[in-house]
Amino acid sequence: MSGRILLTGGAGYIGSHTAIALIEAGYDVVILDDFSNARPDVPDRLEMITGRSVPCHRCDIRDAAGVAAIFARHRFDAVVHFAAKKAVGESMERPLDYINVNCGGLLTLLGAMQRAGVFRLVFSSSATVYGLPKVLPVPEDAPLVAESTYAWTKLASEQILAQAAAADPRWAFGILRYFNPAGAHGSGLIGEDPRDIPNNLMPYLARVATGELARLEVFGDDYNTPDGTGVRDYIHVEDLAAGHRLSLDDLIATDRGHLFNLGTGKGTSVLEMLRAYSRACGRDLPYVIGPRRAGDVDIYYADPAKAERELGFRATRTPEEMCASSWAFILRRRNGS
Ligand code: UD1
Repeated sequence: MSGRILLTGGAGYIGSHTAIALIEAGYDVVILDDFSNARPDVPDRLEMITGRSVPCHRCDIRDAAGVAAIFARHRFDAVVHFAAKKAVGESMERPLDYINVNCGGLLTLLGAMQRAGVFRLVFSSSATVYGLPKVLPVPEDAPLVAESTYAWTKLASEQILAQAAAADPRWAFGILRYFNPAGAHGSGLIGEDPRDIPNNLMPYLARVATGELARLEVFGDDYNTPDGTGVRDYIHVEDLAAGHRLSLDDLIATDRGHLFNLGTGKGTSVLEMLRAYSRACGRDLPYVIGPRRAGDVDIYYADPAKAERELGFRATRTPEEMCASSWAFILRRRNGS
C-alpha cells in the first residue's frame, strides 16, 4: 500500500509502533505529537529502526492553527488518531481536562481534515467502552456504558464520528477498540516507559523488575477467576500495530467505515503475568496481595472473530513474548542505549 498518513500521537507508545508497521508496509508517515507523554528521542529511534526519516511536528491536537498548518504542508491520504489522555483515575479527578483533550482534540482534527478534504480516519478507542461486560468473550455489539470519564470520552468520540458519518458519506472511520496493549518492539528501541509511577500492570511490573519499585501490589485475589486475580486480554503492541495497518488498508481500498475489537480472545491473570515477567527477567518478582482497586472488573477478554473474518486480523504473540520484549526494551533503556 502507498499513501501519506498523519499519525497524531505518533511518538507515543502505540503510535510509535504503528508508525513502524505503516512504514514497513510502504506508507509515508508524518507525526504530530505534543510530547506530553512521549520521549523526544522517539523520532530518531524510528529512523534507526526503519532507515527512513519521519517528519515530526510538535503540536497540541487542540491547536487549530497548528493542526491546519500541518495539513497545509502535507497532502494526506488518511489520519490515524492516537493523541489523547488515557489514565482512568486521573480522568475522574480532572474530567474537564480529559473531555477537552480527547473530545476537543478530535473536533479540531475533524475540522482540519474536512477543510483539507481528507476523510479517512482510524480512531483509537478502547474496550473500556464496554464497562462491566455481561457476555464473554465481548463482541462489538455488547452494550456500551461509561464507568469513568476516560471511558466517557471514548464513547462520546465514537458517537461524534457516527454523527459526522451520518451527515456526510465521504467520511470513512475505522474505530478500533483495544483490549490491554503490552510488550515492546523487537528491536528493543521502542516501548512503554511512563515518566511517572505507572498505573497499569505491565509498566509497573517492569519497574519492579528493575528494582525501582519494591514489589507489585496485586489488586485483589478474591475475584471470580481461576486464581482469584483479575483476568485481562493482553495484546502485543506489535500485533496491535498490525491491526492499524489492516484497518488503514481497508479504509483506503473501500472508503467504507468499520468497527473492530483488537484483542487475542484469551485471558491472562495478574499472577500469570507476574510469573511470565519473572521468567523474562530471570528472578521471582516480589508481590503482596492488596485490596481491590475501585472500578476494576474480574474478567474480560475480546471476541476477536469479527476482526479476523472481515479484516484478516489475528493477534498471535503470547504473554511470554510481551514480557520478554518489554524487559529487553527496559534493559536497553536503563543501559542508555
Ligand atoms: C485500564 C483501563 C483501560 C485502559 C487500560 C490501559 C479500566 C476499566 N480500564 O485497563 O481503559 O485502556 O487500563 O492499558 O479502567 N493490577 C494490579 N496491580 C497493579 C496494576 C494493575 O493488580 O499495580 C491489575 C488490575 O487490577 C487488573 C490488571 O492488573 O486486574 C490490569 O490492570 P491495568 O493494566 O491497569 O489495566 P485495566 O485496568 O484492565
